[in-house]
Amino acid sequence: MERIIMDVDTGHDDAVALVLAAGSPQIQIEGIVAVAGNQVRERTLENTLNVCDYLDIEAPVFAGLDRPIVRRQITAGNIHGKTGLDGPVFPPRTKQVHPGNGVRFIIDTVLANPHEITLVPTGPLTDIAMAIRMEPAVADLVKEIVFMGGSTGEGNVTYSAEFNIFADPEAAQIVCTSGAPLVMMGLDVTLQVMLTDERLDTYREFPKKAASMFCASMDNYMASCRRHGHDYPAMHDPCCIAYLLDRDMFSFERRELQIELQGALTYGRTVVGPHLDEGGALIAKKTKPEQFWNMLDTAFRNLP
Ligand code: BDR
Ligand code: CA
Repeated sequence: MERIIMDVDTGHDDAVALVLAAGSPQIQIEGIVAVAGNQVRERTLENTLNVCDYLDIEAPVFAGLDRPIVRRQITAGNIHGKTGLDGPVFPPRTKQVHPGNGVRFIIDTVLANPHEITLVPTGPLTDIAMAIRMEPAVADLVKEIVFMGGSTGEGNVTYSAEFNIFADPEAAQIVCTSGAPLVMMGLDVTLQVMLTDERLDTYREFPKKAASMFCASMDNYMASCRRHGHDYPAMHDPCCIAYLLDRDMFSFERRELQIELQGALTYGRTVVGPHLDEGGALIAKKTKPEQFWNMLDTAFRNLP
């Protein structure tokens, strides 16, 4: 059983990560923290609560930080819309935000369960960096940090930088140099898991709330991606959950990993150093996308 804390900026693909995690019996979600990223924190929190309420996801939802550590805040409203999750219409929800601070929840849970808890950040690394700064033992006691972010090639916000890293590069550098066991699910691998129109159509008749939410959300995400010149939308964030379900579906390189914080053109770049035998970060390079879709089918079946 994988015990995880998800740190999300819900967003279309974050919502798929929530579906995949909640619908997989091998995973136990201890809690979910909503951080600013794709939209301002109020919206990512609202989206997270809506998804959890709609799908009966019982894990507590906490508010994370509402802005990056150093840089001016940016969002990805151009892709995920005004709400951060444009598309699905949710009924009025009963689920409420859990009292207390999300960063404190991360610290307390990791410290109380040494080497048991995997952190899964699928937004900017702001909360994770703050948890490590407030309590450095988090880096030693966490089982793994499996994050979506970065690229060893081109970025998707600038030529150099991927969105989650670009939205809080200083936080990412704190995490990458913390000594915590890291797994990077970057664009190298997430761009291999694309949703085609044909596949989306196969989910339209699925008699499950999770599948209809997915379709409403993906229609919007697909249209946004096409407005930005991409043929198909990538399933970035759920790749982190797929890794926890079957790490053999990915190939990796273990490399030193740092974040560029100075360059005018390269701010937020994930800089990959020498190959290592231990330490550094496991950087996912290749995957078998068909396996991803089998996992998602199973998750839909297990959810309302
Ligand atoms: C990442 O950026 C966000 O817009 C997505 O949710 C994903 O986490 C992809 O670059
Ligand atoms: Ca995200």
